[in-house]
Amino acid sequence: MGKENILKALEKITYGIYVLTTKNGAEINGMIASWVSQVSFTPPLVMVGVRKNRYSHKMVREGGVFALNVLGKESSALTGKFKSPSPEEKFKGIRWESRTTGAPLINEALAYMDCILVNSVDAGDHTIFIGEIVDADILREGIPMTSLDLGKVYIGQS
Ligand SMILES: Cc1cc2nc3c(=O)[nH]c(=O)nc-3n(C[C@H](O)[C@H](O)[C@H](O)COP(=O)(O)O)c2cc1C
Repeated sequence: MGKENILKALEKITYGIYVLTTKNGAEINGMIASWVSQVSFTPPLVMVGVRKNRYSHKMVREGGVFALNVLGKESSALTGKFKSPSPEEKFKGIRWESRTTGAPLINEALAYMDCILVNSVDAGDHTIFIGEIVDADILREGIPMTSLDLGKVYIGQS
């Protein structure tokens, strides 16, 4: 099986779409993340796969906290917002607050999970950050956004 087939098969995996937010000292950042999963019930643990060259990678490593903001189907405008290389630009016009860990919780999201980093697993060009959910809430009812809504799948590139 060639590399092309591997990529095509990987594109058949479906994902939810989240904004991963981070805080390190006075600095905040946010990025779109889709490699997200619950990995334990007791304690409640979630994982997110972050490519090693992301600024957010350094932020989670050093800050030790992150939040996962669950986007609703109709929030596609937000997926464009978090591309900017500058953290200040990314949060321009976005309403957010912080609660337990200090990581930004985006008001427009359907729900958030505020996490403390408890483990990091090296995984090739990504790191799997495992966080314990220390606070979470539903902000409004709605249908979560998935990779099917975007019509494209993050396969780890760029
Ligand atoms: C739909 C979508 C899903 C993404 N999923 C991930 C992901 O799970 N992990 C990752 O490292 N990057 C992912 N990215 C890419 C990052 O969001 C992007 O590189 C971002 O600019 C990184 O920001 P930073 O360097 O400020 O941390 C995704 C991008 C999109 C559009």
